[in-house]
Amino acid sequence: MADLDTFLAEVRREVDQMLDLRIPNADVEPTILHEAIRWSVFAGGKRIRPALVCAVGRAFGAESAALSQTAAAIEMIHTYSLIHDDLPAMDDDDLRRGQLTCHKKFGEATAILAGDVLQTLAFKVIADDDGLSPELRIRIISLIADASGTPWGMVAGQQLDLSGEGRRLSVGELENVHNQKTGALIAAAACSGAMIGGATDDEISSVRRFATDLGLLFQVTDDLLDVTQETETLGKTAGKDAVSKKATYPGLYGVEGTRELAAKLLADACLALDLLDRDTALLSEIADAIAGRNR
Ligand code: IPE
Ligand code: IPE
Ligand code: MG
Ligand code: MG
Ligand code: MG
Repeated sequence: MADLDTFLAEVRREVDQMLDLRIPNADVEPTILHEAIRWSVFAGGKRIRPALVCAVGRAFGAESAALSQTAAAIEMIHTYSLIHDDLPAMDDDDLRRGQLTCHKKFGEATAILAGDVLQTLAFKVIADDDGLSPELRIRIISLIADASGTPWGMVAGQQLDLSGEGRRLSVGELENVHNQKTGALIAAAACSGAMIGGATDDEISSVRRFATDLGLLFQVTDDLLDVTQETETLGKTAGKDAVSKKATYPGLYGVEGTRELAAKLLADACLALDLLDRDTALLSEIADAIAGRNR
């Protein structure tokens, strides 16, 4: 645990430094746009996706300098997805990462534009990363574009999530929503770390198996926390899924049934790690932390 905490603090420092370097300063025109981006990016997210890029990369022997730009880029995509997820036309939330949502603070139009910038900047950060070969940059850009977009990435999942409001989805449908809206980017984070570490195609497939279980576990836990935690702890409004009539795992299985499913997903993720002939201790600690988190 002490090792995990040290590792997470190190990732946070490196990734935050990279984000600070690549996002225009708040005094650059148009200042409101850059203030809005920085408001959301530096609000204290958990940086789980960057941690996965770095932990998987490290398991395959990559240097941290080779990982930090991709890690920062994925955090940009994630933060863009949160800014847009909170908009009135989507989940309509006032609180994110313990503070006002981007649109509440800066207005809807600026929040939309802040998300737009984070998305395009993410791809530029990878395209400009001269620590990676041009071929590798293109592979990673393609991987992340698939995971962020449609037909099986984050945006597709967000559409399914919104279309599922007020409907009772089947287990398969709900799993699909969660895999797409959340799991896809988490899997891309892990797989990009493996690619940077020079993993073989077989190894990347094993990493994907691990991260797919982990991604579903992440969203199942998010659904659970929405019903079991307080707003203060979460830094976002608790109990919001029921208000929005979202299709969720606790809605389908109840809290206890969802806890059992989470335990199974954690066990499956750790089993997938056994397929890798690497030191995966840190990765299983991250999986435990995702299952045991309270925010
Ligand atoms: C929240 O993600 C949105 C989901 C995909 C469930 P995180 O729980 O990683 O949010 P931050 O980055 O720590 O704020
Ligand atoms: C968010 O799912 C998934 C994203 C792609 C942002 P949620 O809508 O459940 O995330 P929270 O609970 O608002 O963080
Ligand atoms: Mg949502
Ligand atoms: Mg939401
Ligand atoms: Mg949620």
